[in-house]
Amino acid sequence: MLTPDPLESAAREALSPESFAYIAGGSGDEVTLRANTAAWRAYALRPHVLRDVVETDLTTTVVGTPLAAPIGIAPTAMHKLVHQDGELATARAAAAAGALMTVSMFANHSYADVAEAMDGAPFWAQMYLLRDHGLTRELAVRAKEAGARALVVCVDGAAVPRRSRFAGGAFVPPKGLAFPNVREIGLTKAITGLDRAMTFDDLTLFPEWTGLPIVVKGVQRGDDAARCAAAGAAGIVVSNHGARQFDGCTPTAAVLGEIVDAVAGNAEVYVDGGIRSGSDGVKALALGARAVFAGRPPLWALAAHGEAGATAWLHDFAEDIARVLAFCGCRTPGEATRDLVARAWPPPHG
Ligand SMILES: Cc1cc2nc3c(=O)[nH]c(=O)nc-3n(C[C@H](O)[C@H](O)[C@H](O)COP(=O)(O)O)c2cc1C
Repeated sequence: MLTPDPLESAAREALSPESFAYIAGGSGDEVTLRANTAAWRAYALRPHVLRDVVETDLTTTVVGTPLAAPIGIAPTAMHKLVHQDGELATARAAAAAGALMTVSMFANHSYADVAEAMDGAPFWAQMYLLRDHGLTRELAVRAKEAGARALVVCVDGAAVPRRSRFAGGAFVPPKGLAFPNVREIGLTKAITGLDRAMTFDDLTLFPEWTGLPIVVKGVQRGDDAARCAAAGAAGIVVSNHGARQFDGCTPTAAVLGEIVDAVAGNAEVYVDGGIRSGSDGVKALALGARAVFAGRPPLWALAAHGEAGATAWLHDFAEDIARVLAFCGCRTPGEATRDLVARAWPPPHG
C-alpha cells in the first residue's frame, strides 16, 4: 500500500483521465512537483542504536487536539471525483485511523455533514479569505458550529494557477458536483473571489469572527512564518500546495528547517508536499515538524481501494513512521531531533 507508484497506478486505472490529471498534476513544467518528493530523498537518516524502544508511542497533539499519530489529511477539493461518498469516506477513514481530517472549502460535502460522519473525531476546516468578508465570516462561523477545532487559512492563492495538464490551464469539474460550503456563490465565483489584497493584518479576522485558533497554510519562508506567528497563528503549514500554484518554488523539505528556526516555538509547524513514506515523515519530524500532512496518497487509496483503502493507507503510514522512529532509536515523535537528518550521499536521482 505504501509504495506510491503502484497505488498511484491503481488510482489511474480507477479514475477518468481528467480526474486523475487534476489530482496528480501540478503547474508549469512540474519541476517543483517532482522536487517535492525528491527533496525528502535528498536527506538521509542517521539512526541511533542501542536505545530501548520497546514502548513506542506515536500520540501527539496539534493545537491541543489529541491524535493517535502525527499525521493528517491535507485539505483537497472534490473528493466525489474519486469516491461516491466523497469527503464523508475520507473523514471516516481519518477517524478510524486517529489521523486529523482537514476539510477543503471546496469539498463536495458541508463541514457539518463531514463532522457528523466523523462522530466527534477531530477535523480542521480549510478556508480562503474571499473579497466578500461577510460571506467568509458566515462560512467561518458555520465551520465553528460544525465543530472544527481550528481554521486552516490558506494563503498561497495570490494569483490564478495554470495547471499544465489542461488545455485552458484549469480543470473543469464534471456537472452535478455540489460545493455546499460555498453554496451562496458557487465554485467558480468562489475561486475568482479570493481576496488577493489579503495581508498579515487580515489573519486576525478569523479568530475575531470565531474564537477558533488559526493555522496558516502555504508558507514557504521563515520570515513570513515568523510574521504569521506574531499575528497570532497557532500553527503554520509549510506548503507549496503540492506544487499546484506555480512552478519553480522550493520543495518544502528544503525550507522546513529554516521555518522551524524562524518560528522559534511561537507556533506549531507542520509540513506537506511529497511526503510518501515513514522515512519521509520521520525526516520531517526530525527537522521540527509537529505533524505531517498528505494530499494525494489518501486520494489514490480512496480511488483504488475505497474507504477501507484510505483507512489502511493511514494505518500503514503511521505504522511505517513508528517503525522508522524505532530504527532511529526514538520512542516518540518528539524524540526525533535534527541530528537524525543528514544530506543523502550519493545524491538521489529523480
Ligand atoms: C487534488 C488536490 C486538491 C487540492 N485542493 C486544495 C484545497 O482545496 N485547499 C487547499 O488549501 N489545498 C488544496 N490542495 C493542496 C493540499 O492541501 C496539499 O498542500 C498538497 O496536496 C500536499 O502535497 P502532496 O499531494 O504531495 O501530499 C489540493 C491538492 C490536491 C492534490
